[in-house]
Amino acid sequence: MSGNFERVVILSGAGISAESGLGTFRDKDGLWTKYDLNDVATPEGFARNKPLVHAFYNARRKGLLKAAPNAAHAAIAQLETQFKGDVLVITQNVDDLHERAGSRNLIHMHGELLRALCALCGESRPWVEDLSEHLSCPSCGKTGYMRPDVVWFGEMPYRMDEIYDRLAACDLFVSIGTSGTVYPAAGFVAEARAHGAQTVELNLEPSEGVTLFQRRHHGPATKIVPEYVSELLDL
Ligand code: APR
Repeated sequence: MSGNFERVVILSGAGISAESGLGTFRDKDGLWTKYDLNDVATPEGFARNKPLVHAFYNARRKGLLKAAPNAAHAAIAQLETQFKGDVLVITQNVDDLHERAGSRNLIHMHGELLRALCALCGESRPWVEDLSEHLSCPSCGKTGYMRPDVVWFGEMPYRMDEIYDRLAACDLFVSIGTSGTVYPAAGFVAEARAHGAQTVELNLEPSEGVTLFQRRHHGPATKIVPEYVSELLDL
């Protein structure tokens, strides 16, 4: 590995949590092969059928509480701790496996499954129980506005200004476990590369944006991420 990096940005997607037992979206048995995302991951779907959307996220929340971080999450947390430069994880995932593995410098651009948002007053808070339309917001007291604090299609991802600042400043951009099909995240590699960063893809198979990466390692995250991190730390 040539050159010493100082500012690393990591983008993670569902593939990094696949070996923890959480489903991906677009693989052969992915979530979007079982549910229509328009029904369960859009504001319109929520307005049409709140019980269906709550059931979808309640099942995913229960699954997450039974899951554990894997060796890939652990390797990234180790990188943040041991790397002499700065490491930021931008995750598309709504699970908390990066946190549970020890990552602290983290942006959940698509929100968090273990938080609930009041659509009326905008208050967000940690939430591990089931959500339903019969709940009142602990802040404003109104009933029927509680929703998972996740970003649905058509909604603005969180902390985008900060994300673009960090992409412009990084000298190494590593994409892990994402198909590179959903924007704005799918455009981050081009953004980083335009500002001179080296770009690396770590994924089970070549993603949609594979040609934009100067280096690619393909295989299961629990194998290729620890290998890559130890290479970075041995610089
Ligand atoms: N190790 C590494 N990569 C894996 C593994 C694994 N064990 N298993 C699957 N992958 C890869 C797949 O090859 C695929 O490229 O992870 C990627 C998962 O792609 P998607 O299912 O599209 O998930 P993601 O890219 O995170 O989706 C982006 O779409 O639906 C929205 O908001 C949702 O954040 C999500 C966004």
